Amino acid sequence: MNTQAALTYASYLKVDELLALQEPRSTGPAGPEHDEMLFIVIHQVYELWFKEVLHEFDRVRRLLEDDEPHRAQHTLKRILTILKVMVAQLDILETMTPLEFLSFRQRLDAASGFQSDQFRQIEFVLGVKSTAAIQRFAEGTRARADLERRYREPTLWDAFLRYLSREGYAVPAPQLERDVVAPVERSPEIEQILVTLYRRDTKNAELCERLVDLDEGIQEWRYRHVKMVERTIGAKRGTGGSSGAEYLRETVGRPLFPDLWEIRSQL
Ligand code: HEM
Repeated sequence: MNTQAALTYASYLKVDELLALQEPRSTGPAGPEHDEMLFIVIHQVYELWFKEVLHEFDRVRRLLEDDEPHRAQHTLKRILTILKVMVAQLDILETMTPLEFLSFRQRLDAASGFQSDQFRQIEFVLGVKSTAAIQRFAEGTRARADLERRYREPTLWDAFLRYLSREGYAVPAPQLERDVVAPVERSPEIEQILVTLYRRDTKNAELCERLVDLDEGIQEWRYRHVKMVERTIGAKRGTGGSSGAEYLRETVGRPLFPDLWEIRSQL
């Protein structure tokens, strides 16, 4: 006799567990503030997308290591499509007025997207690494272990440079062996290689363009997030303890892969 319950939509996707995860903290005469549900759901959805994007980044890096540029590009395209959805989702939160947000803001205490370890993991994969970001998480936690692992891993840019070298491009040894925790900085030698590549190698030029799309997509998210912050809390400090929009504005417009932007004026 088969004692196992048949798989259903709800049991496979753990729907009951998922729907039990939204716990508003605000209390009022009529119960929790209406807009807190949206605030929780949207952040949880972001965390799920972050998880999926990290999963796909792991694949892109592996595909580059395996010299599979077309499949790497295909996976990058999926990441970019998710990123578009992530940016578009900010529109939903922007339907919340400053006063609606204020109705439950003080109940957030020091909680802030600033503490999203998965967002920091994405930054680490893209070459924006810092030990301070790791130390914000207690030892022994899942977040700390994930960040420590990703801190030591090569970034997407490292995987790309190593791939280019195997494609026959003379990537200088210091670039190939660069410290994977160091920021990605401009390199005239790499720019020279990229200019040649763009002129002669359509396959890899396409791959470069997807990396530029990714870089632009992340900057777009940062820009839209800061605008949402400005219209919701103005110049107030963040719940995470930063100066708020002022801090966020400093992170907008910083390229992840500066060489890919720099060569535009040399082509
Ligand atoms: C009303 C909505 C929101 C407001 C007012 C807001 C406000 C802020 C502020 C002020 C900061 C700066 C750090 C701090 O001091 O707290 C911040 C950082 C951040 N927020 Fe939001 N946020 C909102 C929605 C979101 C959403 C939906 C996400 C999606 C996950 C998000 C993700 C982040 C991330 C990842 C950071 C860190 C950015 C960095 O350090 O570069 N925020 N947010």
